[in-house]
Amino acid sequence: MKQILIINGPNLNLLGKREPTIYGNRSFVQYLETLEALFPDVQLRYFQSNHEGELIDKIHELGFEVTGIVINAGAYTHTSIAIADALSAVTAPAVEVHISNVHAREEFRHHSYLSAKCKGVVVGLGLMGYEMAVRYLMNNVE
Ligand code: DQA
Repeated sequence: MKQILIINGPNLNLLGKREPTIYGNRSFVQYLETLEALFPDVQLRYFQSNHEGELIDKIHELGFEVTGIVINAGAYTHTSIAIADALSAVTAPAVEVHISNVHAREEFRHHSYLSAKCKGVVVGLGLMGYEMAVRYLMNNVE
């Protein structure tokens, strides 16, 4: 069975409570059930952390064995060369997701250190972005 690693970075544990006008009112754990129902043929391995090093450790741990990685690194997207290097280091291809349209927000959210290390980026489509990223990896990676 294919495995996809879904990684959420800082503050994304508060989805559903955090700025609902931007991020919606569904928790990620609830949404994960929807994703699991949509993709019965894939094992979704979910990891969230507010700590940069823990995100890197998880990429190292699973990034050589899973089919692909879906990553929303939260604010680390805009700051972390270390997470970008971790994505380069492993063999699994990654897709970057952002729930909000970062390009319609503050200037500091317009740049991502991760995008160049990813197959593609899904931005501004809400939680559906994760579904699209998983679908891409399922259909395009052996
Ligand atoms: C985010 C956008 C980031 O700029 C922000 O820091 C987040 C969430 C998104 O999913 O829209 O934490 O990655």
